[in-house]
Amino acid sequence: MKIVREPRAMQQLSEELRARGRRIALVPTMGYLHEGHLSLMREGKRRSDTLVVSLFVNPTQFGPNEDLDAYPRNFDQDRKAMEEVGVDTVFFPTNEGMYPDGYQTYVTVERMTGILCGRTRPVHFRGVATVVTKLFNIVRPHVALFGKKDFQQVVLIRRMVKDLNFDIEIVGCTTVREPDGLAMSSRNKYLKPDERKEAAAIKKALEGAQALYRKGERSARVLLDEAHRILGAHPRIRPDYVSLCDAKTLAEVEAADGETVMAIAAFVGEARLIDNCILTDPGEGAG
Ligand code: PAF
Repeated sequence: MKIVREPRAMQQLSEELRARGRRIALVPTMGYLHEGHLSLMREGKRRSDTLVVSLFVNPTQFGPNEDLDAYPRNFDQDRKAMEEVGVDTVFFPTNEGMYPDGYQTYVTVERMTGILCGRTRPVHFRGVATVVTKLFNIVRPHVALFGKKDFQQVVLIRRMVKDLNFDIEIVGCTTVREPDGLAMSSRNKYLKPDERKEAAAIKKALEGAQALYRKGERSARVLLDEAHRILGAHPRIRPDYVSLCDAKTLAEVEAADGETVMAIAAFVGEARLIDNCILTDPGEGAG
């Protein structure tokens, strides 16, 4: 497994791989890898000849009072996990390599930046769009894989790829969960044992709304109330938002008539956790 630290060296390697006709997959990560990341990597391997994983805690997607410094990091553990999966190249740049002195160019996906998570995290999606654009230009992948737990991120990246004519296939992969349903996230590490137990109610709230939908309920108000009712029974959970929106545009809906996603963000102790599900009838995949 190669470890490449310089953007220019990564570009040169990708150029050589492309010249040899290799199909490159990219899995962008911020490290502290869990089974969710590893499942993206396995899928990336299936879809390519060369798997590149980027590992970079991107400062521009954290607001001033967020957890940039506290964000968990463990390169040795990550390296072992990536070796076991069979990653070919790790792109592991420094902050200075990605954002050298005088840096001032950012990518904004206009409408999607200020809704849902963007309301509480106003600079977050500008940082994500910027770093993902840079990673696309540095790694030059044919295919890039992202987890659907970050539903808004996947929708935003698809929009950006279309708008900016990136010739890259974007694959959204199913959320990997703990046995009690909690979506895997590097931020679960922040949870104290009693918070960890209650955090599983986020998934229960999505399931509650899904159950009503499957009985024929389509009113956003009723579906949202059900999710709030379930979350409300857990004092350690402070919802940031519960939203029902169009799965393609992320516009909020009053009725779950088309392809609709329920998205939740909630604070549990120090952690801000997100999760979502596509509302489906029995027999349809929930994605
Ligand atoms: O999902 C993440 O871990 C990050 O937002 C990403 C896509 C690696 C960009 O920093």
